[in-house]
Amino acid sequence: MTSSFELPRRPRRLRRSEALRGLVAETDLLRRHLVPPRFVLPGSGRREAVASMPGVERLSVDLLLGEVEHDLEAGLRAVMLFGLPETKDARGSAATEAEDILPRAVRALKERFGADLVVMSDVCLCPYTDHGHCGLVQDGEILNDPSVRRLQDMARVHAEAGADFVCPSDMMDGRVGAIRTALDGAGFEHTGILAYTAKYASAFYGPFRDAASSAPAFGDRRSYQMDPRNAREALRELDLDLEEGADLVMVKPALAYLDVVRRVAELSEVPVCAYNVSGEYSMVQLAAREGLGELRALALEVLTAIRRAGADLILSYHASQAAREGWLPA
Ligand code: PBG
Repeated sequence: MTSSFELPRRPRRLRRSEALRGLVAETDLLRRHLVPPRFVLPGSGRREAVASMPGVERLSVDLLLGEVEHDLEAGLRAVMLFGLPETKDARGSAATEAEDILPRAVRALKERFGADLVVMSDVCLCPYTDHGHCGLVQDGEILNDPSVRRLQDMARVHAEAGADFVCPSDMMDGRVGAIRTALDGAGFEHTGILAYTAKYASAFYGPFRDAASSAPAFGDRRSYQMDPRNAREALRELDLDLEEGADLVMVKPALAYLDVVRRVAELSEVPVCAYNVSGEYSMVQLAAREGLGELRALALEVLTAIRRAGADLILSYHASQAAREGWLPA
């Protein structure tokens, strides 16, 4: 029943000043919520721009140390590492060598920054295989269990190097539990697992594959990464990863999957990460370059939306600039 005496409701009262809006804001985006992904090159003194990702560079370990130091000074606390190995072959042999680029980067970072920096390392074969798939291949099929055994070894090598979290991004079945068993068996009970729980077969990974030179040489990743049409299936993956011992779970990409972030965040017992992937980043960068919007405003709106959807942590190529240029409070 409506009465003619009813007062108009005035939500605008809470929007009248910056102070008031800040007081009642429902979502915080702070520096501690952001984790920058970084690409590591062999050798020294190497700094290469990634053509498809304005502002992103691939760095050798010596230069990586300096950039991470700046990130820490700017209030970031973690880094996610992706390696560009010297050699590729069918089995991704370099991925499990103690002298591979990733364990070397992890050791150098832990030596320099110790417990002040949370080091996350990518566990996946695609930058290491000559066919570019995330697992071993036989007759055009991506094998599951033999791939998982390779990932167990890779994770153990990263744990030995001192990684705080190993981060399987491959989407093979059973790899979280298998990696947990391998780590515990080798005495690395304290090493965590950040599971790429709901990783979709996405067209937004294009620039990353350029940066990590990890594009599949044949076919696509749809037999192991998730179908973009499915959200309920993400909850099944969440159940499995939690049961298998994931310490952190991730939804990826983030922006086109905010509904999935929300659903996972409502059910997860552990912190939820969302990966604001390369294509999402470059889209914003290029839009800003073309004058379609302002970089800082576009990036902050995207990152805030991902937080609002329920992500605790956001992996984002915007992280470094956002922290260093004071876009965000600590
Ligand atoms: C590979 C991997 C990919 C990304 C992270 N790990 C690409 C892929 O699956 O093809 C994408 C990250 C990004 O686009 O920023 N396992």
